[in-house]
Amino acid sequence: MRRVQVLHPDLRAAAGSDPRLALEEAVSLTAALGGIEVVGGAVVPLPAPNPATLFGKGKVEELGQGFEASDPELIVINGTVTPVQQRNLERAWKRKVLDRTGLILEIFGERAETREGELQVELAHLVYQRSRLVRAWTHLERQRGSLGFVGGPGETQIEADRRMLDERIARLRRQLGKVVRTRSLHRAARKKVPQPVVALVGYTNAGKSTLFNRLTGAGVLAEDMLFATLDPTMREIRLPSDRTAILSDTVGFISELPTQLVAAFRATLEEVLEAALIVHVRDMAHPDNEAQAADVHAVLDELGVDQDRLDAMIEARNKIDLLDGPAREAVENAAARSVDVVALSAVTGAGCDALLAEIEERLFPRRFVFELSFGHDEGRAIGWLYDHGDVLERHDGEQDVRLKAEMTEKEFFQFEKEFGGRVNVVQRRAVAAQ
Ligand code: GTP
Repeated sequence: MRRVQVLHPDLRAAAGSDPRLALEEAVSLTAALGGIEVVGGAVVPLPAPNPATLFGKGKVEELGQGFEASDPELIVINGTVTPVQQRNLERAWKRKVLDRTGLILEIFGERAETREGELQVELAHLVYQRSRLVRAWTHLERQRGSLGFVGGPGETQIEADRRMLDERIARLRRQLGKVVRTRSLHRAARKKVPQPVVALVGYTNAGKSTLFNRLTGAGVLAEDMLFATLDPTMREIRLPSDRTAILSDTVGFISELPTQLVAAFRATLEEVLEAALIVHVRDMAHPDNEAQAADVHAVLDELGVDQDRLDAMIEARNKIDLLDGPAREAVENAAARSVDVVALSAVTGAGCDALLAEIEERLFPRRFVFELSFGHDEGRAIGWLYDHGDVLERHDGEQDVRLKAEMTEKEFFQFEKEFGGRVNVVQRRAVAAQ
């Protein structure tokens, strides 16, 4: 077991967010690495980052003394650490230092299951290394420049490293291109099967894999660990009327995902872009779940998911079994008020049928025949029905106009919203599913 200490530098820049929660998340992230024992975690106030050592001189010494007792091998700093800061801290503490991006790359590296996943992680790693090399190099160059040097052995070595990284990056990109092409061929083949894809998205640890297993009855790995699902997993689900769809589990989002990773992992999230429907799984028992939800929306935005699909998204408010009475009631009331929200527990199964029913309603909206009666002066309402529904019969009587029209429930809600109260619903029955 490698002993690891986690530090969260609190910049006070993100007003309103609780640094202890950020530390807690960083500790869970670190624990997601295999063979790790987290021996301690601390929030370190950081009024102004020091360019050379990140923390001030006194703080570096104080932290170093603290490490004597717990003796961690690795210090994870939950933030951005420049190569210079990293080197100086490693020297001062005589321990390895990893920043947030480095940590996430390590985890992704461990969890990648497919060839594509592996290649992407390696690529992200190289791009990250290269960016640090360039930064370190510019720094040296600046120092050297002030002394009037040009060139020199150090620079040549860095240039050689850089060329080597560039070559490996180029080769990886070519390999990745091939894998992605094969994947899109698979996808094209799958498209011939007219099954809509439903993508589960959500913050890491929201319960996507648990819900995926519950809905598909499949034993896909779910661990109390972050990133149990780096590669999307797809399985068939059976909807209440026996129709089927494909459910896709995706990688969990986290806040401050380094941009180079968002780009590198785009392909793993391609399923989301192509999904007919997105289900956003939220951990309602997490105190910061509002901010997590906002992060997920931001990532979906960044991925280029269009507004229509964002509007049609279902929110699965998960883990209601962990909530106490009033909190659970609040979630259930919100669900009762909105068709976009379902309250559920992936562990107990509560609410999962309602979610399946809502998924079915969105993918295959049921149609109903409504028999309606209007006053003779309701021309606009009648016109609306001709425009939006299928008018099956019309009878212009002396007292009223009677219409039989077929439409979805959603269309009827729209109709009611506009003309409700002035129209009499005589009868309503479901049209049998084809
Ligand atoms: P990533 O793979 O990191 O994105 O996580 P995920 O969203 O797939 O989460 P996962 O399904 O692995 O669940 C994370 C933890 O939450 C596990 O310990 C689950 O057992 C737990 N969990 C998920 N859903 C529920 C729920 O409804 N109630 C309770 N009590 N725990 C849940």
